[in-house]
Amino acid sequence: MADGRGLADDGPGALEDGLPRGLLDDAPAAPSLVRPGADDLERAAEAALRPRRLDEFVGQRVVRDQLSLVLQAARQRDRAPDHVLLSGPPGLGKTTLAMIIAAELGTSLRITSGPAIQHAGDLAAVLSSLEEGEVLFLDEIHRLARPAEELLYVAMEDFRVDVVVGKGAGASAIPLALPPFTVVGATTRAGLLPAPLRDRFGFTGHLDFYDAGELEQVLTRSAGLLGVVLAPEAAAEIAGRSRGTPRIANRLLRRVRDWAEVRGDGSLDLAAARAALAVFEVDERGLDRLDRSVLEALCLRFGGGPVGLTTLAVAVGEEPETVETVAEPFLVREGLVGRTPRGRVALAPAWTHLGLPVPPSAGGDTLFG
Ligand SMILES: Nc1ncnc2c1ncn2[C@@H]1O[C@H](COP(=O)(O)OP(=O)(O)O)[C@@H](O)[C@H]1O
Ligand SMILES: [Mg+2]
Repeated sequence: MADGRGLADDGPGALEDGLPRGLLDDAPAAPSLVRPGADDLERAAEAALRPRRLDEFVGQRVVRDQLSLVLQAARQRDRAPDHVLLSGPPGLGKTTLAMIIAAELGTSLRITSGPAIQHAGDLAAVLSSLEEGEVLFLDEIHRLARPAEELLYVAMEDFRVDVVVGKGAGASAIPLALPPFTVVGATTRAGLLPAPLRDRFGFTGHLDFYDAGELEQVLTRSAGLLGVVLAPEAAAEIAGRSRGTPRIANRLLRRVRDWAEVRGDGSLDLAAARAALAVFEVDERGLDRLDRSVLEALCLRFGGGPVGLTTLAVAVGEEPETVETVAEPFLVREGLVGRTPRGRVALAPAWTHLGLPVPPSAGGDTLFG
């Protein structure tokens, strides 16, 4: 990259959507363009691209339909809707949907997250300041501490918090009634939510990866908001490298725009998309340099495996944890790498992707173990 600003984002910009800095999402700031988490700088750029209403929200037809029904019914009854749980991998639109829910209800959104709440008292303070009909967004709800979780059950079910006054033997709990409100919880790990908490959500929407056509729509919409014209072939090219994730698609779009403005003639066409993504080392399938070096080590150094995680990590000069949590999930999801009891193996598409002949021993689409 020419000037080192390629990876930074679109200027400081206010956090228009009011998200607290550093509180949300699982991943620390990721240097790669194709990791699904967002850092603080990126959130500012994202705020400008967020759909504000349900009908601007691309894809996720099932969840959108269900949610639209839930919200419409609540509006007709003039009551706060049931609590909503949104689950799914990072970057697919959970925070966006939480904001949309509040907007569609014409109410305000309060934002906090599991990790931001250290003590039950923190949550009690938030809850007792809620106004009637407000939406409380609890991001990463699976990371709430146990005592806070228990307080939340009661608040969600009975609209009550028990405020503890005094200490020791003289302490007593004074029940404080809360006005009706709606919790929107978001989690990347629905499986980690204890059943009693999950049960208190009247509606759960699960977000899935987007298909190429949907990502093209996301990209075209974002290009419009950024004030640039994106050629359809370029949209298709970027979509194909975005790992089914709108956040990644929008990020790649911004880098293609950078390239077009600095090194191209300003047009975001197929050639610009390809050239930009070559500079940023995001290949046709959305693999970055680490992903490819894992595949190369697996195929070229270890004959396709099986090879143990630690050995593989040493070969690519990374920590085993990095290989396992950063590179592997997507490689496995794409059917490039398999995990077996004896170690990692390269599947047939991995060889093909590297332009190598597929050895007869390589597993294909089906893998046991
Ligand atoms: N369905 C969608 N349509 C358009 N843009 C989307 C959609 N889903 C996500 N995005 C964009 O992707 C980015 C990340 O979405 P976000 O809601 O923050 O994901 P999550 O909270 O699930 O990690 C946002 O900038 C948002 O504009
Ligand atoms: Mg989020």
